[in-house]
Amino acid sequence: MRILLCGDVVGRSGRDIVIANLPKLRRDLDLDFVVVNGENAAHGFGITEDICRDFYAAGCDVITTGNHVWDKREIIAYIPGDPRLLRPINFPPGTPGVGHGIFSLPDGRTILVINAMGRLFMDAIDDPFRGVDALLSAHPLGQMTAIVVDFHADATSEKASMGHFCDGRASAVIGTHSHVPTADHQILPKGTAFQTDAGMCGNYDSVIGMQKDIAVTRFVRKMPGERLQVAEGPATLCAVFVETDDATGLARLVAPLRLGGRLAAIWPLAMQSAPAF
Ligand SMILES: [Fe+2]
Ligand SMILES: [Fe+2]
Repeated sequence: MRILLCGDVVGRSGRDIVIANLPKLRRDLDLDFVVVNGENAAHGFGITEDICRDFYAAGCDVITTGNHVWDKREIIAYIPGDPRLLRPINFPPGTPGVGHGIFSLPDGRTILVINAMGRLFMDAIDDPFRGVDALLSAHPLGQMTAIVVDFHADATSEKASMGHFCDGRASAVIGTHSHVPTADHQILPKGTAFQTDAGMCGNYDSVIGMQKDIAVTRFVRKMPGERLQVAEGPATLCAVFVETDDATGLARLVAPLRLGGRLAAIWPLAMQSAPAF
């Protein structure tokens, strides 16, 4: 199965580059399934029903989120009716929406998508490891053709731990939330694709997607300042491409995809023909 996970979409320019390119990426990479983290899609904070519809129309199958999921209050009433929009599994019992879903491809293959949130340097919530473990036990590879975990966490240590915790039991564990892509994409020893953070789909002439002058001033002057505003300049689309073996559900290839904006372009399939060193 060929899967693409796009990191946190930040604001209009992030939405524009994802929506403009997803149909072509689906064709060119022969993608079976696309996950988009949309927690910052609405002007940097949250997501709306209209944005969900735009992502689905462009070829997104499932939208994941994180700590910013409720920033646009309208989504609280919408989320129970949309099983393709996930919020972290480890929010308190009774929270609207769900944190995972099992989705069927037209050819009958199945994919379990799990959205979990970390606890280091973030709000104190339920144990993401216990929550992910329960889902992997209930729906193991073998029953599922593929399993993708979007681990929305701040600390690289917590994200690496989730990768190893799931190694051999998930097809891919991809980190989100940092808004900066990491260079550590790899297939872990037992076969799970991993990258600490996918990076954001947003303007990199910014401080993690926010206008740089306001963000820098907040560090320089320890006084209340202007409210952070999303940086709407040209965006880079940052995603992680994973190809899995349908027989085992484990990863055969993991590679970053980057296009547009300020970051150097990376096309994942070039990795297959890269010279050996
Ligand atoms: Fe984010
Ligand atoms: Fe986040």
